Amino acid sequence: FDRSTPIEISLIERIEKLLPENILELLKTIGEKADNLNYRAYMIGGIVRDLVIGRQNDDIDIVVEGDGIYFAKLLANSLGGSVRVHEKFGTATWKHLSGLKIDITSARTEYYEYPSALPTVEMSSLREDLLRRDFTINAMALQINKSNFGKLIDFFHGYKDIDEKKVKILYNLSFVEDPTRILRAVRFEQRFGFEMDKQTLELAQISVDKISSTSKPRLAHELNKLLMEENPVEAICRLQELGVLNYLVGPNNFDIETIQLLERFKVFVDEVTFSTESENSCNEQLWICYLAILFFKQENGLQLVKDFALNNEHLHIVDEIYHLVTSEQALSDEIQLGNLHKLLKKFKKEAIICFAILKNLPEVKTKLIKTYLIARMAIPKLIDGRELKALNIPPSPLFSKILLEIECAYLNKDIFTKKDALRFVKNEYL
Ligand code: CTP
Repeated sequence: FDRSTPIEISLIERIEKLLPENILELLKTIGEKADNLNYRAYMIGGIVRDLVIGRQNDDIDIVVEGDGIYFAKLLANSLGGSVRVHEKFGTATWKHLSGLKIDITSARTEYYEYPSALPTVEMSSLREDLLRRDFTINAMALQINKSNFGKLIDFFHGYKDIDEKKVKILYNLSFVEDPTRILRAVRFEQRFGFEMDKQTLELAQISVDKISSTSKPRLAHELNKLLMEENPVEAICRLQELGVLNYLVGPNNFDIETIQLLERFKVFVDEVTFSTESENSCNEQLWICYLAILFFKQENGLQLVKDFALNNEHLHIVDEIYHLVTSEQALSDEIQLGNLHKLLKKFKKEAIICFAILKNLPEVKTKLIKTYLIARMAIPKLIDGRELKALNIPPSPLFSKILLEIECAYLNKDIFTKKDALRFVKNEYL
């Protein structure tokens, strides 16, 4: 790996094709501002990888050979927007007026816990920064200074590895220093149809035990990203193949039955989502449902999953799953959709699907739940609180009860229009 002279090729045409005009112009301006300070400035990381692959990505990370925080402030002063400084990491996020966020760091600061012993030669700090990263495909830089705009700087053959569809680490201790990179390797394998090279794979396999001593939030951060990729079940099977699940979920907790549950969950979610294009609002919690299915067999499995929650919404959905699978509620096959709505309205669709799968509900009930979820996403708002007030009903918890009743009546096909709904309220509540 020890290349002090990088391969340099121009990616200008690709950049012009892939990046939106306004971002391209902004990058050129940033490059010129860096020129004024005599800083070299580069795009770095995922966006460079994606530009090489030919995928869109607007997650812009910039590294300067100079003071990144100072540079971010200067950009905000001259081009507008605001800066958030993360002192601890020596980085800054510049929020441009357009809303675009750009992370700016000084070369090497991100990894300053591993100080460099290299002499200061041209580009040594950039090279050092890149060398500390996870994989060759993520360790390329794209210069944005005016005279070299679009020049790819590739010390570690990332370009060739992309061509050969390889995920390759940059140094032997990479997985030991950061075991979450094993999850990242699987993510990039899955996302791009790449494969770890032989040595990377071996090192991943011998480092998997480090997963058990890695903090839950750090693992969760990567699991979140991995399980939100297109094929979470394949990703999970790959984790099993590498031995990761032994240390994540514990040994002997993963078998063909678990794979079937995961697959059934995915199919169910896809069916409901595709039939109702509008509601993708809570898909962000899907990943933790996969985790819930993985951990379910274990005693207290769902409680353990809570340790991976990254926010209250994640916590909440696990609570919902727990509540649904432990409640004794038996659903009759004959239950009307409106009555089902009374029982399930407060639960998120992902939690309900997870419950149906984990409880292994019979086909009839599964179908009923599917029909219900699809129907509930199409419930129109027949009347609202203002109209209830106009009927002289004072605002109170009664409001939400009435609105729920109206939804249930609609699902039961007892009412269809606003007029029906108003008549329904007058008959029942006035
Ligand atoms: N990185 C790393 N080791 C990690 C996490 C991140 O070396 N454990 C580096 C990689 O160079 C990566 C960059 O930090 O490209 C940004 O990380 P992140 O945003 O997590 O990943 P991306 O590669 O941008 O992936 P994505 O496209 O999914 O955002």
